[in-house]
Amino acid sequence: MRSEIERLVELDRGHVLVTRIASVLSWDQETYMPVKGIEERAEQLAFLEGLAHEKLTNPEIGSLLHALGSTKANPLGHDSLSPDERAYLRVLRRAYDRETCLPIDLVKDTARTIALSQGAWVEARSKNDFAAFAPWLEKMLSLSRSKAACIDPDKPAYDVLLDLYEPGSTEADIARVFVDLRAELVKLLGKINSKPQVDDAFLHQECPAGRQAAVSRWLMDLLGLDKDRARLDVTAHPFTSTLGSDDVRITTRYVGDFLPSSVFSTIHETGHALYELGIDSPAPFRRSKLSEAASMAMHESQSRLWENMIGRSAGFWKPNLAKLHSLAGPILDGVTLDSFVRAINRVEPSLIRTEADEVTYSLHVILRFEIESDLVSGRLAVKDLPGAWNAKMVELLGVEPPDDSRGCLQDIHWAIGYIGYFPSYALGNLYAAQLWDRLRETLPNAAASLERGDVAGVREWLREKIHRPGSTWLPGELIERATGKDLEAKHFVAYLNEKYARVYGF
Ligand code: CO
Repeated sequence: MRSEIERLVELDRGHVLVTRIASVLSWDQETYMPVKGIEERAEQLAFLEGLAHEKLTNPEIGSLLHALGSTKANPLGHDSLSPDERAYLRVLRRAYDRETCLPIDLVKDTARTIALSQGAWVEARSKNDFAAFAPWLEKMLSLSRSKAACIDPDKPAYDVLLDLYEPGSTEADIARVFVDLRAELVKLLGKINSKPQVDDAFLHQECPAGRQAAVSRWLMDLLGLDKDRARLDVTAHPFTSTLGSDDVRITTRYVGDFLPSSVFSTIHETGHALYELGIDSPAPFRRSKLSEAASMAMHESQSRLWENMIGRSAGFWKPNLAKLHSLAGPILDGVTLDSFVRAINRVEPSLIRTEADEVTYSLHVILRFEIESDLVSGRLAVKDLPGAWNAKMVELLGVEPPDDSRGCLQDIHWAIGYIGYFPSYALGNLYAAQLWDRLRETLPNAAASLERGDVAGVREWLREKIHRPGSTWLPGELIERATGKDLEAKHFVAYLNEKYARVYGF
């Protein structure tokens, strides 16, 4: 049986190899490729997608899974296998089943469309031209519906798409969590709005990109991101991409008159990169699918925990503000720790999700969740998206986008086929808060260590509990093992209420 597992890993590694080569090309497309490279790059990516599809749908994988007792009903396979082997079979069974139901033409068409649609989105956003992007969104939606119908024709398309990113989740489950969350957020916003607004004018002074870049490099170092295994570049929408087990790329963006944009993007993406680099599967499973993160929401929990629970706390900045001041320059002259921490936690409904504070952030996600569900089901036509978007912005956040660039064109996700992905962002906040509570229970000195400038204890706890196992456990199992409980929204709600009572004084 060992030789069958070995052969499975060998075949799987061939697939992982191709997907990571494709990641190199996608990363290059977003960072350095000249604009006219797009047509041929689209062909290159489509070719690799086709190749990856062939690798993963190799019938030999199906036969080996079957021989090892792994079926749809019992993905873990024979009882006699080790826990790691059984976890591996579950991961591979899920990937194999999902891929084998997709026709090769759909896979290639999707890859080609994503590359072109992404280019169209960049141009449409820069020209505030929704009409130019609409046909591409139409096509992405249609491809996503086809994909969902292939994977499970008996389930609503949106449920199938959600399950791709967060195994086991359904629209109904998420809607239930979001209803409570929305109510709590609205209540908290009301309390905050009854208090005088925090002054963050000093953060809106000009801080040159060169200084911000130095800040970003320092932060990556401070959080313990290995420079020999990671690098930083600049893109419109910050992201993290894994090109190899020892090569993770992150990006940030420099907004001249808002230093926090790069500070928190860099901390956020560093959190993602620490997760990727912290995965440590047993040797036989390195570079296999067992060495991938548990889910998108679990990934987001790591970035948000570093960005918010740590990166926006007084404890973190107490030993680090002076260094930030020296790198960022005059904009922080005379700024005290208290006024800095209050300013970086200012709550104000705004147009852009990625710049949103922790209270309104999840309202942005709820908006996208409701809209994409309507788009996928056909209840909302693509041509009506700008109007629906703007109306919901007013309803949920009380602000109206002045143009589509800052409205429905702001996010890249739908352009690259990430439909069903957004809820992960809000679920990530919930995981993060629950982990943060548990971390401080089991590491009573965590707060004191942070105040001494030592983040290693926190990083190692997360590595041990969340990063190291990769996808050995389903996300629901992982949070249960790490915290002793199923996912609950109450940790996040309590965290926000406690924090903002301090920031706004109620
Ligand atoms: Co993220």
